[in-house]
Amino acid sequence: MSRQEELKAIIETIDLTGEAPQTDPEKQYYYIAKARIYAGNLSDKLGRPLTACIRTFGCQMNARDSEKLVGILEQIGYTIIESEHADFVIYNTCTVRENANQRVYGRLGYLNNIKKSNPHMMIALCGCMMQESEVVDKIRKSYSFIDLIFGTHNIYKFAELIVTRFESKRMVIDIWKDTDKIVEDLPSERKYSFKSGVNIMFGCNNFCSYCIVPYVRGRERSREVKDIIREIEQDVSEGVIEIMLLGQNVNSYGQNITNPITFARLLQEVEKIAGLERIRFMTSHPKDLSDELIDVMSKSKKICKHLHLPLQSGSSRILKDMNRHYTKEQYLEVAHKIKKAIPDISLTTDIIVGFPGETEEDFLETLDVVREIKYDSAFTFIYSKRTGTPAAAKGNQVSEAVIKERFDRLLKEVQGISREMCARYTGNTQKVLVEGINEQDSSMMTGRLSNNFLVHFHGDPSMIGKILEVNLVECKGFYYIGELAYCINGTVH
Ligand code: 5AD
Ligand code: SF4
Repeated sequence: MSRQEELKAIIETIDLTGEAPQTDPEKQYYYIAKARIYAGNLSDKLGRPLTACIRTFGCQMNARDSEKLVGILEQIGYTIIESEHADFVIYNTCTVRENANQRVYGRLGYLNNIKKSNPHMMIALCGCMMQESEVVDKIRKSYSFIDLIFGTHNIYKFAELIVTRFESKRMVIDIWKDTDKIVEDLPSERKYSFKSGVNIMFGCNNFCSYCIVPYVRGRERSREVKDIIREIEQDVSEGVIEIMLLGQNVNSYGQNITNPITFARLLQEVEKIAGLERIRFMTSHPKDLSDELIDVMSKSKKICKHLHLPLQSGSSRILKDMNRHYTKEQYLEVAHKIKKAIPDISLTTDIIVGFPGETEEDFLETLDVVREIKYDSAFTFIYSKRTGTPAAAKGNQVSEAVIKERFDRLLKEVQGISREMCARYTGNTQKVLVEGINEQDSSMMTGRLSNNFLVHFHGDPSMIGKILEVNLVECKGFYYIGELAYCINGTVH
């Protein structure tokens, strides 16, 4: 029985005549059961099953949070659909850059129009953007059709908040500043049957001077090893073969748990899980990348050959202002060390252009690192001023025109190198996890290599979720066109 089915059986037997239990997760199971009644009544009134749509903005953390929200919605009785013409629409928001906020505001008018033709519709906003008090003030004043607002710390209370909304018929707002609470054993639905994200920690203590994450995701707290292992074992028993361990800074995992351990030791424990084939993780802060981790990665059979190692800037002066706690030279040293220990590793990175005070010389230092490390891919961002962060208060903001010009130069450099790096495996045969049908051509499947590159090849949907060997016939810049490697009797070798 899957975890979702087990929970369904528990929830169906809950006696709602009594008081709600005092402790979680039991309290939340009670509210799920209660929300089922309200949703059931509405469904009877409308004469059809209720639908829900969840839009996720931002990073893998948010994607994982959305899976938890979907798990709760399904237990309540909603059918999940892609369209926003639904009875319940949830926006799980991001606020890492200002344009993420603008995208959400831009869509709210559209949702209001849909709601006019379906007055029973509920709209919830949650996630990082809701942790900013100005945002909540603005929504309260100008978007009164929103039903429910909650933040990043209390998503586990989703069912309880839905019940409050059904009972109060007014906008419900519940935002916590921070929490040290981690609630285990809640419902959760996976987007993919064969791969899953697993939170190993929440929050961030680094306070990089440009970044809003520590303010909206709170202080760093790690999950207990036993809880992580139990979740992965459960996933594997349901068919998962690849997991992605998630944290803002996985390299500092395990400092505040009952028996503190390092991230490298956690990886070794995860590696022991039979049936699990691939382990990924993100994100690694360069300042905390230990020799122990490099050693464990180089010996592992399951950890994928990919490391995302955000550079942010190649200038030691800017890195100091960014509060990153490493210099250009230290970054280069650690990157070279890992390339030496694992020669076929794929390194990817994040780079910010136009941090306050960035000069042409600083920018050239960034280009220098990009050329030296040769990233397989790099996410490049234009610096975005986030209210409340130390960098936003700096007077020496770089002009838009200068940023744009540097950004274009960086992008050109990064893309040229990615092409070169991708091409180095042309002609090889590699193991590929087949993830789905190609979006452009339905006769092709799309799979992911250990090093995170994608390959498209002729196949059929029965291959989804399997690890197969594929010849990388042609490199198309950032992905490959491949061919399945079959032997005579038709079995894959
Ligand atoms: N402006 C631009 N990029 C940012 N990032 C974080 N904060 C900002 C900001 N204020 C980028 C960093 C981080 C990635 C997730 O987002 O590069 O690694
Ligand atoms: Fe933001 Fe820095 Fe924490 Fe990453 S490590 S989430 S960039 S503060």
